[in-house]
Amino acid sequence: MGADDKSASTFKYNEKPFYTTSNGCPINNPEAFQRVGQNGPLLLQDFHLIDLLAHFDRERIPERVVHAKGAGAYGEFEVTHDISDITSVDMLNGVGKKTPCVVRFSTVGGEKGSADTARDPRGFAIKFYTEEGNWDWVYNNTPIFFIRDPTLFPLFIHTQKRNPQTNLKDATMFWDYLSTHQEAVHQLMHLFSDRGTPYSYRHMNGYSGHTHKFVKADGSFVYIQIHLKTDQGNKTFTNEEAGKMASENPDWNTQDLFEAIQNGDHPSWTVYVQVLTQEQAEKFRWNIFDLTKVWPQKDVPLRPFGKMTLNKNVENYFAEIEQVAFSPSHLVPGVEPSADPVLQSRLFSYPDTHRHRLGTNYQQIPVNAPLKAFNPYQRDGAMAVNGNYGANPNYPSSYRSLSYKPYKTVNDHEKWAGAAVSFLSEVTPDDYVQAKGLWDVLGRTPGQQDNFVTNVSVHLCSAKEDTRKRTYEMFTKVDPGLGARIHDATEKNAQPPAQSRL
Ligand code: NDP
Ligand code: HEM
Repeated sequence: MGADDKSASTFKYNEKPFYTTSNGCPINNPEAFQRVGQNGPLLLQDFHLIDLLAHFDRERIPERVVHAKGAGAYGEFEVTHDISDITSVDMLNGVGKKTPCVVRFSTVGGEKGSADTARDPRGFAIKFYTEEGNWDWVYNNTPIFFIRDPTLFPLFIHTQKRNPQTNLKDATMFWDYLSTHQEAVHQLMHLFSDRGTPYSYRHMNGYSGHTHKFVKADGSFVYIQIHLKTDQGNKTFTNEEAGKMASENPDWNTQDLFEAIQNGDHPSWTVYVQVLTQEQAEKFRWNIFDLTKVWPQKDVPLRPFGKMTLNKNVENYFAEIEQVAFSPSHLVPGVEPSADPVLQSRLFSYPDTHRHRLGTNYQQIPVNAPLKAFNPYQRDGAMAVNGNYGANPNYPSSYRSLSYKPYKTVNDHEKWAGAAVSFLSEVTPDDYVQAKGLWDVLGRTPGQQDNFVTNVSVHLCSAKEDTRKRTYEMFTKVDPGLGARIHDATEKNAQPPAQSRL
């Protein structure tokens, strides 16, 4: 597994293959074209030229609607501590067991060509090629998120992208949304700390954010959250350094990752799990299905269980990174999603966008293909390139039956019942508690709180006045001193906002 197996390199460096058309016809000069005489029109029969142009016209596929800019590499996961008491996931079964993986890091809001050092959460997505299927961890570098209500995702993302009229990034849209949806304030504390501008992908952590369930063969389960802590140490840019790097080398994080691996400096992460039993979860201070909250580490300690190391660059970026397709619904026996509504929505959204971005047979693309798959009831469709299961029956045939592996999915504890309701969560004083906790964490390192105030104020100063005011009130609810400091720092530099109709 890895670049050698997954990439479609067709010849070795010491070989000199014959150039052909796409249908394999040898061509003696790919730069020549067919025309009438020395100056006459082209000939439609020149398949090589027509095909070259037509293929070029179709080189672009849709970029990811979010997380469009990214970089990735191959690696492996090794189990370092036994956790068979909480899960039957095959990949985690046995200390020393290694599983290959591909990883893609990304920014969220910017387009495919945007700067790597933008203030933004970072995506941290991993596909493990396990013996029982591909298991994707589609994580971020922050342990929480802006929303806990899934309907808000497209709405929120729109405010982080471009204004529909000016086509500019718009500080008023950004802060207008966030100051009117203050459950996001905890995530804002992360985003506007210096961790919002990591020095490199190698120097940041990854977090599941969502609660999942680890399940054992007997159907019993615990609730879990996963953390990947960088072994390189957390390292960040200041706002000024990040801005400078964005103009000097917008691809800095991409370059840093590729060069480190090329130089044999293989980045690694220690992987931990936080565990709550169902009984503990019921009495827990925080709603474990609320994505805007962490599980405090003093209450729920981190338990180490593995190490992930990146050790191989890809051979072809488009084939192996642009076409890689992660989904929180790509799960394996031993792990299940929780009832977190944002997670539940993501289970739908990712395969849906893959079918749009890559096509219905996206799982057949080599980087996405599992080690073993036998799924003959899914047939045909555009780009069915894996032999399409040949003559195998495309229904549960009584003449050529398949075997089915017994796997217990029904568990005894989690039972849900209730009326169908139109649910809308409300902001409560609880939403400011962990945000204040992080403000205090920043206070442990000299300069971090000052940087936070600067980082907010240089962005907020471009927003309209009433939005600025509402934002000061929001940060005052986190900490009165913080609200006052952001007010003073921002108003000094307040600029008239771009005039657009919002
Ligand atoms: P702890 O003091 O036990 O943990 C604080 C955690 O904050 C650290 O373990 C570290 O997590 C993280 N941290 C340290 N410096 C920074 C920084 N500059 N920017 C962002 N995060 C930093 O307290 P709690 O667990 O009660 O958490 C307190 C606050 O810390 C929370 O409100 C939350 O915002 C934040 N936090 C909590 C995490 C959790 O899972 N409990 C994870 C990350 C942040 P790490 O080692 O993962 O970097
Ligand atoms: C990418 C949707 C929340 C992490 C994406 C993509 C979509 C999407 C459509 C593009 C995927 C592609 O084209 O391949 C959503 C929706 C969410 C949500 C609807 C909430 C309802 C989250 C959260 C996290 C997250 C909470 C992290 C905890 C990521 C990552 C990627 C991504 C890491 C990039 C994957 C890659 O590198 O290919 N998301 N997302 N998303 N999302 Fe989300």
